[in-house]
Amino acid sequence: MSRDQASLLQVEALEKRFVIRRGPWSRPLVIRAVDGVSFQVARGETFGLVGESGCGKSTLARCLLRLIEPTAGRVIFDGVDLGRLRPPEMRALRRRMQIVFQDPFASLDPRMSIAQIVEEPLFVHGIGSREERQAQVDATLELVGIEATYRDRRPHELSGGQRQRIAIARALVLRPELVVLDEPISALDVSIQAQVLNLLRDLQEQLGLTYVFIVHDLAIAEYFCDRLAVLYLGAVMELAGREELFRRPLHPYTNALLSGVPIPEPGRRRRQGRIILEGEVPVLTDHRGCRFRSRCPVGKDRERCAEVEPRLEERGPGHRVACHFPGELVTARP
Ligand SMILES: Nc1ncnc2c1ncn2[C@@H]1O[C@H](COP(=O)(O)OP(=O)(O)O)[C@@H](O)[C@H]1O
Ligand code: SF4
Ligand SMILES: [Mg+2]
Repeated sequence: MSRDQASLLQVEALEKRFVIRRGPWSRPLVIRAVDGVSFQVARGETFGLVGESGCGKSTLARCLLRLIEPTAGRVIFDGVDLGRLRPPEMRALRRRMQIVFQDPFASLDPRMSIAQIVEEPLFVHGIGSREERQAQVDATLELVGIEATYRDRRPHELSGGQRQRIAIARALVLRPELVVLDEPISALDVSIQAQVLNLLRDLQEQLGLTYVFIVHDLAIAEYFCDRLAVLYLGAVMELAGREELFRRPLHPYTNALLSGVPIPEPGRRRRQGRIILEGEVPVLTDHRGCRFRSRCPVGKDRERCAEVEPRLEERGPGHRVACHFPGELVTARP
């Protein structure tokens, strides 16, 4: 089967721009939060989106599920171009694709009980009788390891880890096929991050889920993802399978990130690595040449990097890199 047929999600040249005005007399500023992103995700796979804060991960996630409207490009879910759907069709499809947000404190309504929070998506989609919905809520709470005695409690009575389990239950109660996990453990204590990751793994196996896993920590990405895309200022710098990417990183940005990578298991103590990136993360408005150049140790003084934006090109099996001089920066992992 070709990848196209096997893939549950196809993203093609996706763009999202925000126009902001700083004041009544200033010129509007266009922020290219997502700037021409393409990738595919196979059924049952965990596809990672990795990048520093502000590189467009959450904006991309929202575009994937059409929680916000992309400026350009296409998202194709199970062969259906989401941009062509009318609102009722999109609503129906939404059952099959869900999201878990980073902050379980902000994402759960404090006035609702745990059972109501988990039941709400079933209610909104008009699924089942009251009894059937309750049974589905109980089954889903059990799946995520929350005891039935918690049904009538409110979110504030729960720990961060328990709250994130409720957020996961709410996403899974409709039994979706695709779940976008937007930094689902980064607001949690290190001691419980591994538990939640392992839960997500078990759930994936039991329910046959496909994950898009958003993360800024490369060690967690390596632990959890089958394939990954490294994002910088709204664009994919490098895309490869886990082994290939971590064994043979070709983009200077990936190399720089990896040189500061902590031990590849969540929950363990971090080792301090060497960070070789200089300069602030810029906000991308208009640019010429390579978007990473202002921080790139390889391309700083190279004319080609200043003039020509590198395209994402195949440099190995399933390994694509957006750089004119791939593999020049090699740094040992600490
Ligand atoms: N609604 C918005 N209006 C204007 N700018 C936005 C909006 N949402 C996000 N941005 C900008 O888009 C960029 C990407 O943000 P985001 O997707 O939240 O990044 P990440 O999730 O990787 O931290 C940032 O520069 C951010 O300030
Ligand atoms: S194209 Fe040039 S500036 Fe950009 S990452 Fe490659 S070497 Fe660095
Ligand atoms: Mg984010």
